[in-house]
Amino acid sequence: MKMDCLVSIFQRLGLVDMVLGVPFVCKSWHQASLDPQCWKVLNFRTLDFMPSSHFAKRFSSLYSLKNFSVSTFMKLVIRRSSGFAVELFFPPWLDAPLAELTGLPNECPRLKIIVLPCLFSQDEMKIPEFIRGFKDLECLEMECKPRCFLELVKEINLKCKKLVGLSMAGYVKHEDALAMANLIPGLRYLNLSKSYMEKESLLVILDGCRDLERLEVKGCFALEVDDKVLRRASGIKTFLYEGCRPGKEYFDDPLDDPFCIW
Ligand SMILES: *[C@@H]1O[C@H](CO)[C@@H](O)[C@H](O)[C@H]1NC(C)=O
Ligand SMILES: *[C@@H]1O[C@H](CO)[C@@H](O)[C@H](O)[C@H]1NC(C)=O
Repeated sequence: MKMDCLVSIFQRLGLVDMVLGVPFVCKSWHQASLDPQCWKVLNFRTLDFMPSSHFAKRFSSLYSLKNFSVSTFMKLVIRRSSGFAVELFFPPWLDAPLAELTGLPNECPRLKIIVLPCLFSQDEMKIPEFIRGFKDLECLEMECKPRCFLELVKEINLKCKKLVGLSMAGYVKHEDALAMANLIPGLRYLNLSKSYMEKESLLVILDGCRDLERLEVKGCFALEVDDKVLRRASGIKTFLYEGCRPGKEYFDDPLDDPFCIW
């Protein structure tokens, strides 16, 4: 098969196949798998990184590594992508500080989609500094709203001018809503499902972010989606708000919440 034909097929394969299968089939497949075009979508989310997993064992043995580590694996794959990566889905957890990956903006300058892992608090504070390096970023997804969210929004406003999608869950305070409305009003896709957010804050977002096409606030706590909200959201193509629980009785003090709410 022609090389570019192989490349276009390999582009559609997941990382497991690309790392454990394809390079070992034959010379031409190996050759084609080195093309950075095959490594545009780097989805580490679904890999099983447990040291005892089939994947970890196979990877360590195929590449003669004594120790398997998530960050080593990521670095290897990222190097292979040679700057062509467009989508990066982190694994749910990192086994090294985010700082170890700070070279990423240089190694993946074309990233448009980033899905961040759960981060420990020290790492979390580095998110704004990390994200500002991606000038082409269009979509950012975070498991939890980081405590430095206001800082992050400022950086996005200054450095990531193409950002149109944001997804996170957490305690969306009024000041957070104001920051979104004022600093990233160009959002088109916003997912705040499972957040703690009061109606007034959502109204601020609806007033500020006039380009929203898709807004998801499913299962939000303290959020009452009433006629007023529905009227203001009427221009949004897709507005999903099932399972919201109005009333604040669930959380007298949001800081006591066991989920990622701050
Ligand atoms: C493997 O990891 C363990 C624990 O982190 C470490 O003690 C050991 O030196 C490592 N071995 C190699 C060959 O890197
Ligand atoms: C929106 O966020 C929720 C909760 O974080 C998640 O379960 C859901 O899949 C997200 N929706 C989309 C379209 O990604």
